[in-house]
Amino acid sequence: MVSVRPVKLHINGEEHALTLEPRVTLLDALREHLHLTGTKKGCDQGQCGACTVHVDGERVLACLTLAVQAEGCAITTIEGLTAPDGTPHPVQQAFMEEDAFQCGYCTPGQIMSAVACIREGHAGSDDEIREFMAGNLCRCGAYPNIVSAVRKAAEAAS
Ligand code: FES
Ligand code: FES
Repeated sequence: MVSVRPVKLHINGEEHALTLEPRVTLLDALREHLHLTGTKKGCDQGQCGACTVHVDGERVLACLTLAVQAEGCAITTIEGLTAPDGTPHPVQQAFMEEDAFQCGYCTPGQIMSAVACIREGHAGSDDEIREFMAGNLCRCGAYPNIVSAVRKAAEAAS
């Protein structure tokens, strides 16, 4: 018999009560149980960054985090970056202006990582941006425009 337990997750300012097996990842809780499908599943093995979300303001790989580990924490997903009136977050806006995506599959993870990269003060130069965004892979090779978008958003925020 599969054992389940109640899990409360605080996501994008809202509390969600779930009943989950303890082995369910945060990524599967978001996508399969809460239908927050903006967070993408790429490798599901911690290699690609497509599943990047923020937990208490820190970027984490949701595929390597159990949902139960995130109980009591403030979780932010790509859906939570956009303002309630639909205004995009400045990093989302910069990605659109710089044409920083092709298929777009890696984009939510790239944006979540970029927001943290800028907030952590690691967007001072293109080399620094590349280094601190290195965990986010783009199979389309949109890297030059991603770096431009992060630089533009970082400059606007400074
Ligand atoms: S899906 Fe989590 S790192 Fe690839
Ligand atoms: S835009 Fe296609 S994977 Fe990055």
